[in-house]
Amino acid sequence: MRCRMKFYVGIIITAFFVCMRYAEAEQSYTVKNERFEHYDGVPETLFFADNMKVIGRQRTWNGTMKFLVDMDNEHFKISVETFHAQPGDDNFKSLPMGVQHIPLCDGFKTYFAKVAQPSFVHGENTDFPYIPEEGLCPLPKGEYYFKNLTLKTDTWPTQLPKGNIKVKMTFFKDGVNIGAGAVVMKVEDGE
Ligand SMILES: *[C@@H]1O[C@H](CO)[C@@H](O)[C@H](O)[C@H]1NC(C)=O
Ligand SMILES: *[C@@H]1O[C@H](CO)[C@@H](O)[C@H](O)[C@H]1NC(C)=O
Repeated sequence: MRCRMKFYVGIIITAFFVCMRYAEAEQSYTVKNERFEHYDGVPETLFFADNMKVIGRQRTWNGTMKFLVDMDNEHFKISVETFHAQPGDDNFKSLPMGVQHIPLCDGFKTYFAKVAQPSFVHGENTDFPYIPEEGLCPLPKGEYYFKNLTLKTDTWPTQLPKGNIKVKMTFFKDGVNIGAGAVVMKVEDGE
């Protein structure tokens, strides 16, 4: 009996410290939005992020992203690239985090739904289509708004290099670049 008690107390204490460490790791950085960038496709652009801005003291997302066509998993692909620049610098260097030319719906299901979607309150800070666990295909064309949106980083890596991080998402149709958008964020030590 005592032995069992000890066992359970041991588990609780272990769980507590695992949670503490996890929570500490979660809080080792804060992320502030800096700006958006838009890149036209070549020769045509079917994805637009040129209307996205970071506004206000809270550095929230505001604006719209435009998808001019339905984007399926056969013809459309995305690449996600990440870059880092030292604090106070804009000299971005490529980071080994990202994916190259993966089918679009798969990419949104696997990455977008985990990294960006947790920050969405559908109908409140965005009307971007909700991506369920089984995915959404095709991603329907439309102009989707984002407003007063701050990023929730709970599902992000526990460590990120301090400084500026750029996450760039490029869209392809049949292998051809149809536009890209990037968000630049400032990563600082946690409070
Ligand atoms: C926020 O975005 C909306 C939609 O694009 C726009 O009408 C509004 O003027 C923007 N607000 C600011 C403060 O830029
Ligand atoms: C923006 O969102 C914050 C919470 O994230 C909320 O406290 C605030 O009232 C919102 N502002 C507007 C104008 O909706």
